Amino acid sequence: MKRRVNTKAFAGLFACIFLIVAAVRLINKKPADKTEKEPAATSASQTFIETAGTGTQSGDTTGSLNNSEPAVSVDSSGASYVDNIMIVNKTYSLPATYNPGALDSKVQSAFDEMSSDAKGKNLTIWIASGYRSYEDQKTLYDKYVAIDGQTEADTYSSRPGHSEHQTGLCFDLNTVEDSFARTDEGKWVAENCWKYGFIIRYPEGKEDVTGYKYEPWHLRYVGKDIAKDIYDRKICLEEYLGVKSEYEDSSASTGMSTSDNSSQTGFSLSTGTEVTTVPDIDSDSDITASPGNSDDVSGYETGIKFY
Ligand code: DAL
Ligand code: ZN
Repeated sequence: MKRRVNTKAFAGLFACIFLIVAAVRLINKKPADKTEKEPAATSASQTFIETAGTGTQSGDTTGSLNNSEPAVSVDSSGASYVDNIMIVNKTYSLPATYNPGALDSKVQSAFDEMSSDAKGKNLTIWIASGYRSYEDQKTLYDKYVAIDGQTEADTYSSRPGHSEHQTGLCFDLNTVEDSFARTDEGKWVAENCWKYGFIIRYPEGKEDVTGYKYEPWHLRYVGKDIAKDIYDRKICLEEYLGVKSEYEDSSASTGMSTSDNSSQTGFSLSTGTEVTTVPDIDSDSDITASPGNSDDVSGYETGIKFY
């Protein structure tokens, strides 16, 4: 009898302990992430071969704005992703072999829809520069370095492998001039591009975070949900993903310092015709692009600019 009571008491105690452990585990369980993220269009299969918590190409993400290090994955093509969003900036690069060859079809369709709606408002938008290969970007960047020096060029032109144009997920609209933001087209695009899944990739006031000067003409496709979130919160992609944009050899934290010329590479402004045919990049008056411009970077020689 006594033995049976002890057995019962033991079973009861065991049940209590089990219930307490189960309850504690339930309380400690993290709530499911309710943020629904629409994956950006990608041109490579996302079979991740590596997962890094602190960056992948040339630096870590310590110090990201929310102080948490995002998981950055690199797929088999060498592209980096955070939460299925491809990230290419001064920290995260693409190999020269990454070559989608054209704008992603989803991006092209979203642009077509946006330009058609713009037309309905008597506005004309066109893609002045879309996909650019690693080699095209190298040609552009080297020329800008020759004109302005590397420190200045790094504030507006990406080093080869670091340009979003190589992804096929972005494009430059109309005229690559600050004045674009003040045109009816520029204003409409700024207010409405999120509805089509685009963000202004390098916003005004975020130069220290993106690592680049304001580019009202450069749109990046991220999908409608994320574009709306980024637009509503007035943040940039680096802030959204919690990553940095900084070259490994950058002396300034973002590479945006133009007073420190210590990292210049010795390119000097030549007096050749190549230089004199190129307009001053800071001038708002030298608008040269027009509908139908192609991505032929040799257009640079005739005054058509590509950023
Ligand atoms: N102008 C942008 C930053 C590029 O060169 O890709
Ligand atoms: Zn651009």
